[in-house]
Amino acid sequence: MEPLQVAPGIYSVGVRDWNIRDFHGYSTDLGTTYNAFLILDEKVALIDSVKKEFADELLANISRVIDPRRIDFVISNHTELDHAGSLARVMHRIGEDKPLICSKMGAKNLARHFPQKWNYRAVGSGEEVRLGRRTLRFLETRMIHWPDSMFTYALEDGILFSSDGFGQHYAGPETFDDEVGDRILHHAKKYFANILLPYTGLIAKLLQQVAELRLDIRMICPDHGVLWRSNPTKILEAYRTWCRQEPGRSAVVVYDTMWHSTEKMAEAINEGILSAGVPSRPMHLRAWHRSEIVTEVFDARALVVGSPTLNNGLFPTVADFLCYLKGLKPQNKIGAAFGSYGWSGEAVRQIEEELERMKIPRVQEGLRVTFVPDAETIAACHAFGRAIGRAVAESPGASS
Ligand code: FEO
Repeated sequence: MEPLQVAPGIYSVGVRDWNIRDFHGYSTDLGTTYNAFLILDEKVALIDSVKKEFADELLANISRVIDPRRIDFVISNHTELDHAGSLARVMHRIGEDKPLICSKMGAKNLARHFPQKWNYRAVGSGEEVRLGRRTLRFLETRMIHWPDSMFTYALEDGILFSSDGFGQHYAGPETFDDEVGDRILHHAKKYFANILLPYTGLIAKLLQQVAELRLDIRMICPDHGVLWRSNPTKILEAYRTWCRQEPGRSAVVVYDTMWHSTEKMAEAINEGILSAGVPSRPMHLRAWHRSEIVTEVFDARALVVGSPTLNNGLFPTVADFLCYLKGLKPQNKIGAAFGSYGWSGEAVRQIEEELERMKIPRVQEGLRVTFVPDAETIAACHAFGRAIGRAVAESPGASS
């Protein structure tokens, strides 16, 4: 079957990865897609490739439209190997001397991944390539989310090929956002929270730059998930909102436990937060994947973290989560720590130190209990949670 045309002469030739469940540490419960696009004009262009193990499928998709040797040049919007991994196979098939268009950093980074001496054509923001009746214009999007990242804009079609930007790790039968409905926004938000969060300042500037360019964007084609066809403004607006990192009036209690004591504390603290009228959810680190937890934390004002003390330190899953979260540089949070211990009890202080490094102010002094919480301690946990809930409810700027 011929690949789908997303617009006249523009084919979606990428692949669905139905079975991936862990994308370098990100949970992909519904798989993902590696989108690539073939543009037929007087000249033929391929935008991006796919993961190495899907190279045959990509080339087969292209072959159903044209002989791959008719591709005049390849555009690499991003070097990461889920999009560049099959470039060696593609370039070998279409001709090693064909121009490979990428950003200046793309040329450097691709050369670090592939030994072949390809015919790199490095482009900067505003540079254009004519395909015939079509014009492709390039826009560098450095550090969104790699130094080499760029967008390609098909001027006459009003299509923005946005690489990872506006993507979602989602593989389904659908191709377009309107075929999925609003639930796709959860996947887009999870992608934003786990991949793009450290770069919100740059993304906000990029969105402003795009607005000032007055590009007529009729469709956004990211390299993951569905294409934003029905109302591309919706995802642009969502990104503007997410870049502000304005938390909702909610909390998340993230914890692990050895013998259920820290779990009992977590649930009592959560009840206390709820009693203040603030939505909250306890999230056990071995019941929830860290990337789902980060998506909840992204929306929340308060992050409450609990850990038992193991060998004078944090429980490993808690350390993993805090390390992961710290790299994402979340903003506008308040926090607190708690945990059960047997004899030394360092974990709570270590959580607080990590929260300090993330510039997350403490709303409550850490709460610790020796071994098993009794009724009095459970009441203290409830009060601890209620105070956190009140702090969330009274937070300036938190939206409900
Ligand atoms: Fe989908 Fe940054 O690669």
